[in-house]
Amino acid sequence: MSRTLSVSPQHRVSGTLSVPGDKSISHRVAMLASVANGSSRITGFAESADCRATLECLRSLGVAIEHSAAEIVIHGKGLRSYKPPASPVLLNADNSGSTIRMLSGILAAQPFVSVIDGDASLRRRPMARIIDPLMRMGASIEAREGNFAPLRITGGDLKPVQYASPTASAQVKTCVLFAGLHAGGTTVFSEPTPSRNHTELMLGEFGARIETESKTSVRVEGGVELRPVDYTVPGDVSSAAFLVAAATLLPDSELVVTAVNLNPKRTGFLDVLRTLGARIEIQNASEQHGERVGNLRVTAASLSAGARGLQLSGRVIANLIDEIPILAVVGTQIDGRVEVRDARELRVKESDRIRTVVDGLRSMGVIVEEFEDGFALSGPQRLTGGRIETAGDHRIAMAFTIAGLIAEGPTEIADADCVGVSFPGFYDALRSVTGDIGITG
Ligand code: S3P
Repeated sequence: MSRTLSVSPQHRVSGTLSVPGDKSISHRVAMLASVANGSSRITGFAESADCRATLECLRSLGVAIEHSAAEIVIHGKGLRSYKPPASPVLLNADNSGSTIRMLSGILAAQPFVSVIDGDASLRRRPMARIIDPLMRMGASIEAREGNFAPLRITGGDLKPVQYASPTASAQVKTCVLFAGLHAGGTTVFSEPTPSRNHTELMLGEFGARIETESKTSVRVEGGVELRPVDYTVPGDVSSAAFLVAAATLLPDSELVVTAVNLNPKRTGFLDVLRTLGARIEIQNASEQHGERVGNLRVTAASLSAGARGLQLSGRVIANLIDEIPILAVVGTQIDGRVEVRDARELRVKESDRIRTVVDGLRSMGVIVEEFEDGFALSGPQRLTGGRIETAGDHRIAMAFTIAGLIAEGPTEIADADCVGVSFPGFYDALRSVTGDIGITG
């Protein structure tokens, strides 16, 4: 059983710190390196439970991986080169939706049977979204009733597809493109609104023949062997978001988060905060592997949504989907009304994040309205300390830890260690910038 943490209110955060490597990029670079021809050296790889799950799965598939404090070296042997010691090979994706969905695209092309499963949260998450395109490509997949994990994938020769996904999802896009790498011919993936594009950028780095046709459509050529890469993973902006929120909300704060990924498809939270008056400066921006990277310098600011309020809906949602829990916490301190709609996908994340956010806010005394596809609240509202049931969801635990810093009285975070899914050193990082021990186990 994981610890309950008690968070006490703070006045400021200050200092300079880094965050773990980007989770989305870490999964992708490990998987692609595992099917490239040669050895890839990766620095800054996310040392989080989710990304460790990906490495463990790759090891179980016979991929040689050297892991030191400085770097990870993955020895790829080319497409269709996995050699598990037994078939079926049993793989554990743990809490990681990215691992199960993206890796399934590669497993579907391997000449053996794999069974991939995960924890109770993962077993509740929808898998029809990848089963459907992979079956159209010729894979055979059995799932638990309702299209849930575990998935039993009988891999083999794949044919290319033109797949129009009903869901805008970078995980589904990645799954189909990874399968497409192994298919004979051109695979085309399209989606209703644009999702994050790390896969497209990275496939270019690995030498794949990939072409972005439009904001919502991409094609990849199958059968092209990939070259290895030396890749530096930038910091995860989704992890930085919690620190940015703390620095914005706590008066007298001044914080620098170094070398963060600033891909425009990932910075929706920063963009929205800026329109509300947040003081977030980007310093030392550069481009690495096609991704924008820079330092974030944040100073405290008061936020206002103006008379018309802040309405977030439509395609902007994809650019801040993982930041909505912390956005809700920030929303309680904004002068004006905040409404989030078209965010139904939140209901099938690591927890039902509309429920867990609304419940968490209510337990801290906030008045908030829940919708099927979002929520609304009017700020500013005072937060009182309370007990937060995180449902084992890392982003809920971190969002409400920040809420605890601005609340009156102590806040208890149940199952606090779940932050390790994406940000194992989160509480230590916060301690290092609050200057006193405001967080006790
Ligand atoms: C991710 C894409 C998003 C995001 C998840 C990571 C990725 O999910 O919520 O945390 O790395 O591609 P969907 O692709 O399902 O929208």
